[in-house]
Amino acid sequence: MAKRSTTFVCQSCGAVTAKWAGRCESCGEWNSIVEEQTGGGIGGGPSRGSATRGRVIELVGLEGDAKEPLRIQSKVAELDRVTGGGFVRGSALLVGGDPGIGKSTLLIQAAAALADLGHKTVYISGEEAIGQVRLRAERLGLAKSPVALAAETSVEDILATLQADKPPALVILDSVQTLWTDKVDSPPGTVTQVRASAQAMVRYAKKTGSTLVLVGHVTKDGQIAGPRVVEHMVDAVLYFEGDGAHQYRILRSVKNRFGATDEIGVFEMTGAGLQQVANPSALFLGERSTNSPGAAVFAGLEGSRPLLIEIQALVAPSPLGTPRRAVIGWDSARLSMILAVLEARCGIRFSQHDVYLNVAGGLRINEPGADLAVAAALVSSLSGLALPANCVYFGEVSLSGAIRPVAQAQSRLKEAEKLGFDKAFCPQGNLKDKALTDLTANGLEELGDFIAKIS
Ligand code: TYD
Ligand code: MG
Repeated sequence: MAKRSTTFVCQSCGAVTAKWAGRCESCGEWNSIVEEQTGGGIGGGPSRGSATRGRVIELVGLEGDAKEPLRIQSKVAELDRVTGGGFVRGSALLVGGDPGIGKSTLLIQAAAALADLGHKTVYISGEEAIGQVRLRAERLGLAKSPVALAAETSVEDILATLQADKPPALVILDSVQTLWTDKVDSPPGTVTQVRASAQAMVRYAKKTGSTLVLVGHVTKDGQIAGPRVVEHMVDAVLYFEGDGAHQYRILRSVKNRFGATDEIGVFEMTGAGLQQVANPSALFLGERSTNSPGAAVFAGLEGSRPLLIEIQALVAPSPLGTPRRAVIGWDSARLSMILAVLEARCGIRFSQHDVYLNVAGGLRINEPGADLAVAAALVSSLSGLALPANCVYFGEVSLSGAIRPVAQAQSRLKEAEKLGFDKAFCPQGNLKDKALTDLTANGLEELGDFIAKIS
């Protein structure tokens, strides 16, 4: 019998300490440390009397099983793109997102799509009763799909149910925060419980070759509540994001052992569930007003996919001693940098002005390639002159004011051309590989040259 002990576990980051403290030393969170009982080690490892022999195979000559392809595709193109070409057998995924964003809707639709293709799928809900899940499936027009439903929260019961039958291709657990195992004494929802339960389920997936999808809620500050520890256990972490004011949702991969990260899938929430958006640029540019100053279209890149996004800036005289800078959807430190470069290298002063920057559609951009579009929007708003409506911008701005090349200029230009743009401002360095498009690409070396051209 394993030794029982009392430990103190941070519910935010999962750090374990021997003593209680008001603030977690590891993540700095206040009031997050809770006393927990652990039995059989943290996470409740498997306790077995006798050991069994494992199997060792050589890498050379290792062949995939021809009958069972390694990946199962849902044929929902936006989902398959994010998973890197379909769910990998025996892998575990964590799908995180704010409550109410549409995680359950997405997964019941994915389960139905797989079941319709003849794969055995099981959807286990710890949050809703079977009747409620069925009601939702009926609303989504999926009631005829052969998805097996269960409402269960005990890991032991779930495993017993799954083991009674042939292992399914896909098991969805909604959500990981509701799971509990009697291997550990902590109450459900605590880090110890979540970790132990997830571990047991991941072990099941690896052993049987089923794909496991765990759903996790995200807290206010954007962390998957408690189960950040789960992120290390799974093969892929996908975030489902979007904001309440817009109908579209983005599924983003932040970790993927079997595919590229930063890949996105775009969906739209409608009365009949989530619909795929095949052409997101058109969606994000849909509400554009083409003749107002301060708007510039950025030809961006999300994962491997080019995406056109409108950047909006408002520069207004400030009554304050320290003018206000507010940013939505971009990095505020990066905005300060662009303002400083415009001031120091191009002589454009913003020190008497409030600056507001917004990425249209509630999208968040992490790419430095947006620098040029931001600079264009800022200068346009300050001067009151609208930028040409048929033009896109991309390029990274360095502290010296030089414009640096970015990745995949070709696909950005092609996307812009596809959406009817006929002009682009981009780094000169990107034009070495001759543009294959009919678009007029203006190569730029310095931010100063650019300002001279647009004003
Ligand atoms: P849900 O999938 O329950 O969110 P989560 O599992 O992430 O908590 O989604 C709930 C929201 O989605 C709810 O606010 C209503 C909306 N919704 C639609 O707009 N259309 C639909 O067809 C469905 C099923 C939900
Ligand atoms: Mg849900």
